[in-house]
Amino acid sequence: MPVQPKLIIHGGAGSSLQGKGGVAAVRQALYEVVEDVYQQLAAGVSAEAAVVLGCQLLEDNPRFNAGTGSVLQSDGQIRMSAALMSGDRQRFSGVINVARVQHPIDLAEYLQTSPDRVLSDQGAAELLRELQLPVYNPLTELRLQEWLQERQQNFSRTMAGVVAEGDVASEARRGTIGVVALDQQGHLTVGTSTGGKGFERIGRVSDSAMPAGNYATGEAAISCTGIGEDIIDECLAARIVVRVTDGLSLIQSFERSFSEAQKRQRDLGAIGIDRTGAIAWGKTSEILLAAYHDGVQVGDSLEMPVEMGCGFS
Ligand code: GLY
Repeated sequence: MPVQPKLIIHGGAGSSLQGKGGVAAVRQALYEVVEDVYQQLAAGVSAEAAVVLGCQLLEDNPRFNAGTGSVLQSDGQIRMSAALMSGDRQRFSGVINVARVQHPIDLAEYLQTSPDRVLSDQGAAELLRELQLPVYNPLTELRLQEWLQERQQNFSRTMAGVVAEGDVASEARRGTIGVVALDQQGHLTVGTSTGGKGFERIGRVSDSAMPAGNYATGEAAISCTGIGEDIIDECLAARIVVRVTDGLSLIQSFERSFSEAQKRQRDLGAIGIDRTGAIAWGKTSEILLAAYHDGVQVGDSLEMPVEMGCGFS
């Protein structure tokens, strides 16, 4: 009997949707991806293929801080990170600080079957050349202007205006994209991709290409967003998956992990699916940009209360 496919995606976390055109525009952007990818899952594609497609679509949308529209680092360069983890194989692959590629997730996908599965800057650039992927510039005018403005202010802010360009001076910004899918065979896969925090030091490594930010087993699959350092300190994705493996339900695992993160004043969010098809999301940030398809309906987390919270379907 085929399993009912499930899907959840995110376009980051933050404190306002103002700079992204408001709730309706963000909802529409997320729902378009959910509908496209869910259609593929319902037609029988693998969770891995669905996750890669979802990540590519989100990387192509300049609203989100991954692929096209990635933020610039302190030296004015874009360096992106992405990871893929197959729950079935329990195998992680990823790239850290790669430049000039349209879809960093494609490199993570290629590395799933490579003996060397996580490559950083120079190695990732070599792989791009080997695969003969076209050189691509993911820079957008908005990100450039943001960086120029920041430079004028001598980098007084610490992160780029990924979520709320309307109030960049006071905002903490937490953009990333992620996709989690359960396919008809009951296989789970997760993918995460990011341009990083923005204005960070050269060589800073994001959580997105670590098991802290992107982790899956046969039991559950989780993608995180938010401040990478907070996610790493909580080891959030792996923490939630281990709790599910040890017998807590997915929603209990989210609630316990987010309650702990809240006590430590972390700024983060996560989405996930378990092998039974339960879907969950959680945040300590004010806003989590997540949307899902549970086989019956499409829903989202955009209007969750501002206080820390978790939801499920
Ligand atoms: N969560 C993305 C980053 O901090 O790089």
